[in-house]
Amino acid sequence: MSKTQYYTATSLDGFIATEEDSLEWLFPLAGIGESSFPAFIAEVGALAMGSVTYEWMVRNAEKVAAETGSAWPYTQPAWIFSNRLLPGIDGADIRFVKGDVRQVHLAMRAAAGRKNIWLVGGGDLAGQFYDAGLLDELIIQIGSATLGQGKPLFPRRVLSPHLRLVSVRQVGSGMAELRYEVHTGKMPVSEASESTAPSDRTSLEH
Ligand SMILES: NC(=O)c1ccc[n+]([C@@H]2O[C@H](COP(=O)([O-])OP(=O)(O)OC[C@H]3O[C@@H](n4cnc5c(N)ncnc54)[C@H](OP(=O)(O)O)[C@@H]3O)[C@@H](O)[C@H]2O)c1
Repeated sequence: MSKTQYYTATSLDGFIATEEDSLEWLFPLAGIGESSFPAFIAEVGALAMGSVTYEWMVRNAEKVAAETGSAWPYTQPAWIFSNRLLPGIDGADIRFVKGDVRQVHLAMRAAAGRKNIWLVGGGDLAGQFYDAGLLDELIIQIGSATLGQGKPLFPRRVLSPHLRLVSVRQVGSGMAELRYEVHTGKMPVSEASESTAPSDRTSLEH
């Protein structure tokens, strides 16, 4: 069955990037080849990311191309969340959206078919899908590095028993991958209302 998955790498202390959006700390920890990424991306039919992640890819197009062979390495349709007008990338299947993730998720689900939906990041965007009860799995590579501060992995309060640990795997000597199923269906209303997701955003493609 098609799933909506937040697949990302984090520092040991829970940050996916430094405050300045650097990922230099991450690159020495594990190569794409030894990670689960090739098998994961083969099952992805649509992906979403926030504007800061997208702008990182635009800014680091040469580095991305050197690593993957293309400045925009995804063949799947991509939804970029932003309230601003951002430049596109030639040849990339991208649509810019804003507002309620539920409307966007419907479009992503239709595009993905039987494949999965990948929430690339950042953490709050994945949290917005969680708030809407649309996040099925967390697949987290925990790197052997601490950052002290930075962009948060998942800025939500999710208490037991909503996350079910389904696998643990060592990736080289620098990372451990944890997979969690998310059981949002059982989330009490009071806990959902504590989330930090904005509720007054309108949904608009632009
Ligand atoms: N470690 C990893 O594997 C990994 C994975 C992914 C990302 N990253 C990095 O982590 C950092 C993530 O940055 P971030 O936490 O700031 O998050 P982000 O999700 O990339 O960007 C956040 C921005 O997206 C826009 N946005 C989010 N939700 C929206 C909505 N519903 N409607 C309209 N716009 C919305 C807003 O910006 P505007 O409206 O101003 O455009 C918001 O400030 C980046 O540096 C990225 O490169 C690391």
